Amino acid sequence: MLSWTCRFRRESAIESESPALVVVTNREPWLHRATVHGTVLRRTPGGVVSALDPVLRHRGGVWIAWGSGERDWDEAPDGQVPIPPRDPRYLLHRVRLTDDEVRGYYLDYANSGLWPLCHLAVERVRFYRQSWNIYQDVNRKFAEAILDCSVPADTIWSHDYHLALVPGLVRSLRPNQRIVHFWHIPWPPTTLLRLCPNREEIMEGLLGADVLGFQTEDDCRRFLDSVNQLLSHRVDMEQGTVDLEGRMVRVMNFPISIDTPFVAETAALPAARRLTSAIRRRVDQRDIELGVAVDRLDYSKGILPRLEALDMFFRRYPHRRGQVVLLQVVAPSRSDVPDYALLGEQVEEAVADLNQRWGTDGWIPVISIRKPLDLKRLASLYRAADFFLVSSLMDGMNLVAKEFVAAQLDQRGVLLLSETAGAIAELEDALPINPLDPEGFADTLEEAIQMPVAERAARLDRMRTRLEQYTVQEWAEDVLASVEMTVADAALGRILQARQQGRQIVWGLDVDGTLVEFAPHPDAVVIPGPLLDTLRSLHQTAHTPVLIISGRSEESLRALMGPQFPGLLMGHHGLDSAPETRDITPPDEWRGDFLGLERDWPGAWLEDKGPTWSFHWRGVDPSRKTALLETLAHLTERLTHPAFRTRFGNEVLDVYPLAANKGTALRGWLVRTYGPEWPSHVYPVAMGDDATDKDLFLAVGKNGLSIAVGARITGAALVLDSPAAVRRLLARASMSLRQ
Ligand code: UDP
Ligand code: G6P
Repeated sequence: MLSWTCRFRRESAIESESPALVVVTNREPWLHRATVHGTVLRRTPGGVVSALDPVLRHRGGVWIAWGSGERDWDEAPDGQVPIPPRDPRYLLHRVRLTDDEVRGYYLDYANSGLWPLCHLAVERVRFYRQSWNIYQDVNRKFAEAILDCSVPADTIWSHDYHLALVPGLVRSLRPNQRIVHFWHIPWPPTTLLRLCPNREEIMEGLLGADVLGFQTEDDCRRFLDSVNQLLSHRVDMEQGTVDLEGRMVRVMNFPISIDTPFVAETAALPAARRLTSAIRRRVDQRDIELGVAVDRLDYSKGILPRLEALDMFFRRYPHRRGQVVLLQVVAPSRSDVPDYALLGEQVEEAVADLNQRWGTDGWIPVISIRKPLDLKRLASLYRAADFFLVSSLMDGMNLVAKEFVAAQLDQRGVLLLSETAGAIAELEDALPINPLDPEGFADTLEEAIQMPVAERAARLDRMRTRLEQYTVQEWAEDVLASVEMTVADAALGRILQARQQGRQIVWGLDVDGTLVEFAPHPDAVVIPGPLLDTLRSLHQTAHTPVLIISGRSEESLRALMGPQFPGLLMGHHGLDSAPETRDITPPDEWRGDFLGLERDWPGAWLEDKGPTWSFHWRGVDPSRKTALLETLAHLTERLTHPAFRTRFGNEVLDVYPLAANKGTALRGWLVRTYGPEWPSHVYPVAMGDDATDKDLFLAVGKNGLSIAVGARITGAALVLDSPAAVRRLLARASMSLRQ
């Protein structure tokens, strides 16, 4: 259940403890639309939306996109819509664009400039100066929305050719933000990219990301070649990296996938099954081979060449007249761009011609559906098909081909797939076609029709297995893991560089929420054996001292780390460094307040550690936590004392002497051990997740490396998203530092 809105996330330090995923696209996944039945929320067609909607439903987060529905702003004046409304999984945050912005940025620059350029439709490309200005303005608008809806520890995942400048804009304002950009369409060869007057700005904008994803290896290679030829950054073609003076950008290929089980389940729904059966009954009665094609009405999809190939098919195989029907869905798209409007007319004419030339009494070769269909209807068509045609001239991936495979529950259909669609690299059991070779296309169609049932099933089986093994969820995981890896790489790079410069590495590590995940009760936390081995190895074998600096008492730390742990333990938020306050305890009259709260809020309890206390409420009923927080906020206003302070942490309120400061403790130890000149030859690495750890980061400053874990605190040089990521980094560091 979604528990926060964008504004709430930004302002509340409490709800934003784990980093969120913030997806940014031009096209919104759901729009409000007027129908005769009133306003409805409709899914929008297109590969980007089809791929990301299941990802965000699964992971939760925020989706920022242009609010393009005619009723969007009436239905949600603040632009925020929980999706799906009845059981919200993520929050849609709409960006409002004026008509001029839509024209300049979307219709002109993106769809009359970049889209045809990347799909090699060179003669259609036009770049107008005015639209470039608007493209920049709108990218800035999206970047502002991102800053509004996220905190620095979140992962920003921007998409496609509409938003090429977004990574750079966000990077310039939040240098440590984790940013990944995925380019869904082909990247053009450098010779053609020269036709774009703003190619350098576009590439620099994209290089604002930590990871730049493409659909295929060829796209990666072409992008790296463009950077190599047109920009001055150092490119490593082998490693797929671009060196931006200290910041590495990884260029990686992640072929996008589909929500395979969901598509198959949709095809199996009773309503879908009924439609499939109705269609099959009609074609079986007349012994017809049913072909299906599903595309947005786009010249890159090769709809006209497909009709030409069908014409050729009837010429070469005239006995097939009356035996084959192509049912094609052409979902209107970008119809305010003149090339698209014209294409609509051309397709209609070509279909009419074909039907007139070859049609007989009671039979026509092509039936067109000229509106978008929902997945249920599409799935029944996919399932009913004897063959499926994907004839793209150029296509980043083509998800429709994958959906067809997933929905073929009766294993009857043959996939004919253009060799210039990205999907061909994975769907090796499709019959490849060249959409611009009508004779070859026609012969392959005949081959498909003649293909024995067993072979059809075997091919579909292999393709489906592949799609089951690698769904869009795995794709998202891979993309996001690569960003995490980039942050870990950056951290390790800095540590190893300091080592090379002869500096002594020292670790200052918080425990709960940093090295290990929180447990319902502090006593339930266990340090995993491999982590203990890593810490031991860092301390003893790599000779990099490990200081555990925690709010726990020293006894609790000793019990946790074990009697053999060789590192240093600093409890009570580093109170050790202020021995004069070691024996004082928080004012006793405060105890009554906390004990009262314990009684009123089941699940909340006071941990009395002597000189410090922690009031925990992890166990309180989640629906009551906000009210408890308000009560605590009032209480802490009252709890003032010259020697003690209170500080909110992760579902805990810490009470401790002013003199206790993790930063002072670390700095004191550094001075005692290495002398006041320590910054010249020591490199402390501090990691923490909570308010008291900010003092550690301040102590380290620019003389070392600070790493925040999760989204609760700012002020660190880098952010890792979880204790698991910390453990992985420490393990890698121990391997490297031992050598
Ligand atoms: N789609 C849809 N309704 C339609 C036509 C297409 O929902 O009438 C969806 C289709 O299911 C697929 C996506 O739009 O998920 C198209 O993705 P693809 O990669 O094939 O092409 P794109 O439109 O992204 O270029
Ligand atoms: C392609 C693009 C997407 C776009 C989709 C539909 O898949 O890569 O970014 O959303 O087409 O096009 P539209 O212009 O309607 O968003």
